[in-house]
Amino acid sequence: QDEHFKKVISHAKEYGYVFPSSEIYDGLSAVYDYGQNGVELKKNIRDYWWKAMVQMNENIVGIDAAIFMHPTTWKASGHVDAFNDPLIDNKDSKRRYRADVLIEDYVAKIEAKIDKEITKAKKRFGESFDEEQFVATNGRVIGYKEKAEAIIKRMAASLEKEDLADVKSLIEELGIADPETGSKNWTDVKQFNLMFGTKLGASADSAMDLYLRPETAQGIFANFTNVQKTGRMKIPFGIAQTGKAFRNEIVARQFIFRMREFEQMEMQFFIKPGTQLKWYEHWKEARLKWHLSLGLGEENYRFHDHEKLAHYADAASDIEFKFPFGFKELEGIHSRTDFDLGKHEEFSGKKMQYFDPEENKSYVPYVLETSIGLDRMFLAVFSNSLQEETLENDTTRTVLKIPAVLAPTKAAILPLVKKDGLPEIARQIVEDLKWDFMVTYDEKDAVGRRYRRQDAAGTPFCITVDHQTKEDHTVTIRHRDTMEQKRVAISELGAIIKEEVDV
Ligand code: GAP
Repeated sequence: QDEHFKKVISHAKEYGYVFPSSEIYDGLSAVYDYGQNGVELKKNIRDYWWKAMVQMNENIVGIDAAIFMHPTTWKASGHVDAFNDPLIDNKDSKRRYRADVLIEDYVAKIEAKIDKEITKAKKRFGESFDEEQFVATNGRVIGYKEKAEAIIKRMAASLEKEDLADVKSLIEELGIADPETGSKNWTDVKQFNLMFGTKLGASADSAMDLYLRPETAQGIFANFTNVQKTGRMKIPFGIAQTGKAFRNEIVARQFIFRMREFEQMEMQFFIKPGTQLKWYEHWKEARLKWHLSLGLGEENYRFHDHEKLAHYADAASDIEFKFPFGFKELEGIHSRTDFDLGKHEEFSGKKMQYFDPEENKSYVPYVLETSIGLDRMFLAVFSNSLQEETLENDTTRTVLKIPAVLAPTKAAILPLVKKDGLPEIARQIVEDLKWDFMVTYDEKDAVGRRYRRQDAAGTPFCITVDHQTKEDHTVTIRHRDTMEQKRVAISELGAIIKEEVDV
């Protein structure tokens, strides 16, 4: 697993997907740049989300709010007081960790033991193995499960009560060591605010303290009445937004899973108070369906309903994805009640209400939120797609099976040889296809090498122009995943590609 994660990181760099930020100065921790292929994949994921959320829903519209917001926003939202991580330092190594993450990692190890028991039993019982029954009745598995649940419950309760001393006790009782050095010499646990501060204005006395937004959601809440009134929106309706968010995360080596500068894709759905449970279930199902439509494998997703709730939520669930380092949060679905609009009403003195013609009264709407990290989705797609295959002739190939709809380049056009007029025909195909698709031209090296290069870059189609093309205007089209080749007319190419990349 660790090996696969390392490959993911090096492949992402080698193929122009993700580079460490300011690498010439040895990089900046938990900050990354997207390269020529990465920017396309990221854009395609964003578009795929936007299409499903905004284009396909008559009652959801988009906005693009500024990253800077009036500082009172973050007092109202609770981020100034409550957007904290519990941190702990190791006295020997001087390294700093999130106390809750240390505990969660410990629990993940217990969960890995459960997986191991299941795999063992599967081998023993073969076809007749009933996983559900095994998990419910096997003494060892039950023991592990109970232990894991008890730890998470105690941690959640202590954090909820701000009992940081107990969080430290828990770490000590479990014998959790510094993952880097093995030392168990811990300081007390302290809260640390995650927002980045900056200043607006030039002169020292008049400058205003600002924060870089830690979530895009507040730009939506602050524009609730603007959009509702100008768009004449009727409840239930949604506002969607994608954009950068910033958090001073304490992390080590998680690549683009947890970054200090990242992008969110969020949607706030404004509803009648009392209907939140119905919409919570609705959006959980709708969002899972969106994920499954990409075909990364149903077994790689699971829901995790929260016991520990954020300061704004009355119910929350994560869609977790099986990353190379295990199941982790990919998207959150939160029932935020009237917390945010209510607080903004209180702090701004402006009404954040909706007049409901059916009820003939005004109220502060409740909010159901879906929030997904674009970079995290990128990592899910990329890590799942990177595969090492053994072929029939015992050679291997590295292939990046990114769903065609998301692939940076849809087709590579390859003249079989660099002469006999084949490059000219291939160039013409590029000229024709580039109006509709990202395509590329490649004439360097033997065609087999070029196929492998495109496989590793994630290009779903290779179109090869050969001598027969000159006679009958046909080319071969090779599919990345099956490596199958078919002869088709040049005039059919657009339709064939469209069929695969359209949703
Ligand atoms: N508005 C709600 C909100 O921001 P969150 O659970 O803190 O909720 C939502 O974040 C999503 O944003 C997460 O599920 C994750 O995909 C992504 N995310 C959060 N912090 C991140 C980070 N430091 N780096 C990358 N993605 C992050």
